[in-house]
Amino acid sequence: MDTAPDGDGAGPDYDPTVEPGLEDAPRPGGRHRVGAPQPAPLTEHGPARVIAVANQKGGVGKTTSTINLGAALAEYGRRVLLVDFDPQGALSVGLGVQPHQLDATIYNLLMDRGVEPDDVILKTSVAGMDLLPSNIDLSAAEVQLVTEVGREQALGRALKGVLDRYDVVLIDCQPSLGLLTINALACADSVLIPLACEFFSLRGVALLMDTIDKVKDRLNPDLDLIGILATMFDSRTVHTREVHQRVIEAFGDLVFDAVINRTIRFPETTVAGEPITTWAPSSSGAEAYRMLAREVIAR
Ligand SMILES: Nc1ncnc2c1ncn2[C@@H]1O[C@H](COP(=O)(O)OP(=O)(O)O)[C@@H](O)[C@H]1O
Ligand SMILES: [Mg+2]
Repeated sequence: MDTAPDGDGAGPDYDPTVEPGLEDAPRPGGRHRVGAPQPAPLTEHGPARVIAVANQKGGVGKTTSTINLGAALAEYGRRVLLVDFDPQGALSVGLGVQPHQLDATIYNLLMDRGVEPDDVILKTSVAGMDLLPSNIDLSAAEVQLVTEVGREQALGRALKGVLDRYDVVLIDCQPSLGLLTINALACADSVLIPLACEFFSLRGVALLMDTIDKVKDRLNPDLDLIGILATMFDSRTVHTREVHQRVIEAFGDLVFDAVINRTIRFPETTVAGEPITTWAPSSSGAEAYRMLAREVIAR
C-alpha cells in the first residue's frame, strides 16, 4: 500500500515530480529541470490552440491526462473544451457523464446536418471547462465517414465554429491510428503523446511519429509535437527509471519536465467522476498536472 504522506507512494531517492529547490538539479540524460513559470492571467479568450492527445497504445493515460491537464489549465483561467473522440466514452465517464443516456453526442455533430456544437456541448463540474461527449455511436462515424468527401476533415469542420470561445481544445483520441485519430491530427495545432514508463512503451512510437509526419505532409503542414508526457512512473522500481531515462535519451527536450506517478488515486477519480485537481487538490498527481499545464502554456 502507499505510504507516502500524500498517498502517492513516491520513493525518496529519485522522484522527477518533486519540484521545490530542484530547479537546477541534474536530470537523467544530463538535462536540467526548468519547469515553467506561473502563467499570466488572460484578459481575453480564444482562438483556441487545438491539442490532440494521442498514442495508439491503450492504457497509457491519454484520457486521464486529457481530463486533468484540462482541469489544471482551467485553474489557470484558460477556457477549455475537452473532446471525447473515443467511442468508449471514457473521458465522458471520467467527468461523471453517462454516455448511453445522452441525446446528442459528437457523432451527431459530425454526421447530422443542422446539429450545432451548442446542442452537444456540456458543462463540467470544473468552471471554465466544457465537454463534447461521445459514446459507442462514434464507432459508426468511422465507418460512415470513409465514403465522404473530406473525410479526414470532419472533426475540423465540426469544431470550427467554437474555436473563438476557448483557449485550449484537448482531443482525447482512441487507441488506434484509424480515421478518427487522423481527423484529430488533421485539425490539431499540436500533438501531446502520453508514454507509460513501462517495458515496450517505446514500441509503436515510431509508427505514431510516422503517422504524424504523413498527416503533416498531406493534410496539416502546421502540425507539431508539443511534447511527450511520461506517465505511470513508479519511482520504487529501477525498471521505470530506466524506461524514463531511455525516453529522455530518445526525445530530449520534447519530454515534459512534469512526470505523472503511478498512483491508485487516478482510477479513484474515475469513480468519483471528477479531475484529481478537485478530488485531491494537494496530491502530487494534481501538482504534476498543474506543472504540465504551465509547460503547455509556456511551449
Ligand atoms: N498515473 C496513473 N497511475 C495509476 N493509474 C492510472 C494513471 N493514469 C491512468 N491510470 C489508470 O489507468 C487506466 C488507463 O488510463 P487511461 O487514461 O484511460 O488511458 P488511455 O486513455 O490511454 O487508454 C485507467 O483505469 C486509469 O484510471
Ligand atoms: Mg482513453
